[in-house]
Amino acid sequence: MISISTWVMRGNSSARRRLFTGQRIAVNYCSHQFVRASSGPPTHTSDRARTPTGAGPASAHCGLGRAAADTAGSLLELLGQVQDALTTTALSSSKGMIVAVRYLISHPDALAELGDLDVALYDGTHPLPENLDDVEFYAVPYGIVDPRFCEPIARMPRLKVVQTVTAGYDHVLPYLRPGLILANGRGVHDAATAELAVALTLAARRRLPDFVRAGGEGRWASGWSTGLADARVLIVGYGSIGAAIERRLAGFEVEISRVARSARPGVRPVSEIAEMLPRADVVVLATPLTPETEGLVNKDFLARMADGALLVNVSRGRVVDTDALLVELSTGRLHAALDVTEPEPLPADHPLWSAPNVLISPHVGGLTAALAPRARRLLVDQVRRYAAGEPLANVVVGP
Ligand SMILES: NC(=O)c1ccc[n+]([C@@H]2O[C@H](COP(=O)([O-])OP(=O)(O)OC[C@H]3O[C@@H](n4cnc5c(N)ncnc54)[C@H](OP(=O)(O)O)[C@@H]3O)[C@@H](O)[C@H]2O)c1
Repeated sequence: MISISTWVMRGNSSARRRLFTGQRIAVNYCSHQFVRASSGPPTHTSDRARTPTGAGPASAHCGLGRAAADTAGSLLELLGQVQDALTTTALSSSKGMIVAVRYLISHPDALAELGDLDVALYDGTHPLPENLDDVEFYAVPYGIVDPRFCEPIARMPRLKVVQTVTAGYDHVLPYLRPGLILANGRGVHDAATAELAVALTLAARRRLPDFVRAGGEGRWASGWSTGLADARVLIVGYGSIGAAIERRLAGFEVEISRVARSARPGVRPVSEIAEMLPRADVVVLATPLTPETEGLVNKDFLARMADGALLVNVSRGRVVDTDALLVELSTGRLHAALDVTEPEPLPADHPLWSAPNVLISPHVGGLTAALAPRARRLLVDQVRRYAAGEPLANVVVGP
C-alpha cells in the first residue's frame, strides 16, 4: 500500500482525513509544505519524519519513482482544493480555538516555547479542545486525585505518549491501554519535595507544632526536643527524591543509610530493611506506590522501629497501613510527619487529625515556586524529543 502523507503547514492546527481507500492522507497545517510517500501505514517513526525541520520528508520524496511523485503531485493539487474545506473543519467551532492538535500540554509557558509545533494547552482549568483525534502526546494536567485529567486519554485514538508532570504516576496507570508510553515528571519535584521532607523532619524533631499550638493559646511553652543532630536517618526509596533529601540533610550532622528496591554501593536492598529499622531515629519514605510498596509500612515494619522514632512520609499514603500507624501513635511510641495520607483529602473526622505526635501537611510536597520552571523545561524537552524522533526521558511504562 502506498501511503502518502502531506503536511501543509499553516497556523497551528491540524486535520487528517482518509480520502481514498488504500491511501492514507494526512494533512497538518503549520508553516511548511512537503510530501512524503512510503509503503505501509505510517508508524511513529515515519510520523516523526514528517516534522517540518526534519530531513525525512525531503529524502523520502527524493526516493520516489516518477509515477509515485506524479501521484503525489496530483494529490497535492487535490489537497489544495480540499485544504480550505479542511481548514474550515479544523477551525470551525472556533473563536480561534484549535480543535485538532498533535501535542496537548499543560503548561502555558511551554506552549509559548513550542509555538512552531502543532500544540495546544489543556491545564485542567479550560475546556478541552473538542477534537482529540490527532493528539499523539498528552501531558496530563498537574493534579493527583482528579480523574478528569486522565479520562481524555480514552478519546485520543492516535495517542502514543502520556506525560505526567508528577513523579508519581500510579493515578494514571488505570487509564493506560496497551502500546502507550508513559513518561513521568521524575526530577521536577525533587527540590520541593526534599525540602518538605527535611522541613517535616526538623519541625517534628524540634516540636514546632507544639510551639505553634501553644502560641495560638498565648502560652510560652518552653521545653526540650530531640533535635536532628546525631540522629540516624534511614531513607527508604533512594531515587531522585531520596537522593535530594540526603543532599539537603548533609549539613545537619546526621548519619544516613539508604534502602532501594535493588542493592548498589551505599544502598541496601529492601529485603534487608527489617534489620535496619531498629537503628533508625528517623525513617523517611520516598518510594513510588507500587504493588510491592503498598502497605510496606505495616504493623511489623512499625513494630521494628525504635521507641520514639519518627516516620516521615513524602511518598504516597497507601505505602503506610494507616490503622497500624494509628495504633503506634496512640500509644505515644512513635511519631509521624505525613505529607501524604490514605485517604486524601483526609476527612475532617479522621482519627489521624487528633492522634498524638503527628504532623500532617496536605500533600504539598511539590507545590512551590520551583515547580513551574522545572515542569516547563521537562515538557518542552519531551515534546522536542518526541517531535525529533529521539528517545524520551523518564519512560516508566512502554517500550
Ligand atoms: N509528596 C509529594 O508531593 C510528592 C512529590 C513528588 C513525588 N512523590 C512521590 O515520591 C515518589 C518517588 O519519586 P522519585 O522521583 O524519587 O522516584 P524514583 O527516582 O523512581 O525513585 C524511587 C525509588 O524507590 C525505590 N523503590 C521502588 N520500589 C521499592 C521498594 N519496594 N522498596 C524500597 N524502595 C523501592 C527505587 O528503587 P530502585 O532505585 O532500586 O529502583 C528508587 O530508588 C513518587 O513516585 C511519588 O509517589 C511525592
